[in-house]
Amino acid sequence: MTAIDRGIDRAGLVAVVGTGTMGQGIAQVALAAGHPVRLYDAAPGRASQAVDAIADRLGRLVAKERLPAADRDAALGRLAPVADLADLAEADLVVEAILEELGAKQQLFTALESVVSDGCLLATNTSSLSVTAVAGVLRRPGRLVGLHFFNPAPLMPLVEVVRGAATDEAAADRAHATVATWGKTPVRCADTPGFIVNRIARPFYAEAFRAYEERAADPATLDAVLRESGGFRMGPFALTDLIGQDVNEAVTRSVWEALFHDPKFTPSLAQRQLVASGRLGRKTGHGWFDHSEGAGRPAPHTAEPCEPPGKVVVHGDLGPAQGLVGLMEEAGIAVTREPVGAHLALPDGTRLSLADGTTAAEDPFAASVRFDLALDYRTATRVALAASPAAPEESLRSAIGLFQALGKAVSVVQDVPGMVVARTVAMLVDFAEDAAARGVASPEDIDTAMLTGVNYPRGPLAWGRALGAHWVRDTLRNLHHACPTGRYAPSQALIRRAAADEGLL
Ligand SMILES: NC(=O)c1ccc[n+]([C@@H]2O[C@H](COP(=O)([O-])OP(=O)(O)OC[C@H]3O[C@@H](n4cnc5c(N)ncnc54)[C@H](O)[C@@H]3O)[C@@H](O)[C@H]2O)c1
Repeated sequence: MTAIDRGIDRAGLVAVVGTGTMGQGIAQVALAAGHPVRLYDAAPGRASQAVDAIADRLGRLVAKERLPAADRDAALGRLAPVADLADLAEADLVVEAILEELGAKQQLFTALESVVSDGCLLATNTSSLSVTAVAGVLRRPGRLVGLHFFNPAPLMPLVEVVRGAATDEAAADRAHATVATWGKTPVRCADTPGFIVNRIARPFYAEAFRAYEERAADPATLDAVLRESGGFRMGPFALTDLIGQDVNEAVTRSVWEALFHDPKFTPSLAQRQLVASGRLGRKTGHGWFDHSEGAGRPAPHTAEPCEPPGKVVVHGDLGPAQGLVGLMEEAGIAVTREPVGAHLALPDGTRLSLADGTTAAEDPFAASVRFDLALDYRTATRVALAASPAAPEESLRSAIGLFQALGKAVSVVQDVPGMVVARTVAMLVDFAEDAAARGVASPEDIDTAMLTGVNYPRGPLAWGRALGAHWVRDTLRNLHHACPTGRYAPSQALIRRAAADEGLL
């Protein structure tokens, strides 16, 4: 490790400016790492309140025996509010967590520049502003970095270390090393809209909202499919009710606007209407779901038991769904194989194929049913199916019976292109490939960020490799054909990756 790679010394003074939700959390993290910490807030009395709030939180940790009382006392002995910015003159690192307004942040850092020493590192916790723009007014913009913590900062491991256009490499290295010594998982990223997580996560929300707008299914069903088949910890409807529809929409809009209205980042009309109607989620008692007292959570659509087929013919390679073959054999279904195709044939003539961005109705066979992508068909507890509108009722019933025989609950959704999980994951993979190719962050940091920042079950780049870049590309091409606005056009990065996989590059 070179001198440049070393973080702020443990004895170094950390100042936190803006002592609301994030400021308090960041202060707690710095305290836990052993630093003396000073708090400043523009609202009189707010910094002292923050000291009390942090003391309460540490007290709860002591009560739960997760922190020795002596460590709590020592930490509180290192923490003090200050009444004036000038009292931060000794700081080695200032982390700003004031309101999300460019002018306010620029003004604060301009004032700080004439208070702190030349060696002091400056950091902004902005989630949506340009670090380059915040630093743009400074005499020495090279020492300003973005340190994007996630809420709640003491619990969330990820910190995006953002290098603005003028940020010195050494300053970014120091910030990175510092948060690493704080026990966090730092990732480096360029100063681009949404950084890593808030950029790449957009389709997780957007595709579900879009599927809802297309009336593929209700929010409870779409959430259940993304959780139980996609492997995501929470569905996008429940998650945005928790985050706040206004907060989630503001992130979507700011990234979309900062990217000059790129159609891939288009916000959702259904979410706009929720926000306009004041249905902001749990905090207002109603969002996608009713959160008022006594209101039950709507159940996802789950098909009634159906008779399973006794045998299945596997035509060709099922690609990402090939794992189903072994599961069928284990379930006692007689499986025979035919070399050509990429589908399952049931005894009644039903053809079952993996969602690929086309609809079942586009197939030349009436009895056509699509099944959705699963993270892992063995562990998935639910699978979504969609039948061609022309399919006989019996086709859908035998397809339902097949998946039920594998132990899965089945949700029947409308026959929309890419259904639910397939379109969501294809878009996440494409966004991640595109971000990596544009130098937003390294491939390793992109997957780390999505695993630790939003708890995805798999890093999107690793997921794309498991699926095969050509499958992702072809699914998006089909979606693009169905909806030629540019939203689904595969990125150049994905096209190159698929060509390389196919040995064409
Ligand atoms: N809340 C989140 O989930 C989250 C996550 C990551 C990043 N952020 C970012 O962190 C920052 C703070 O967010 P928050 O949710 O903690 O806000 P908050 O409203 O809880 O706290 C902001 C605090 O800053 C103080 N303040 C405002 N202007 C000030 C000034 N000029 N000087 C000193 N203090 C000032 C306010 O009095 C308030 O106490 C924002 O930039 C936000 O985008 C928030």
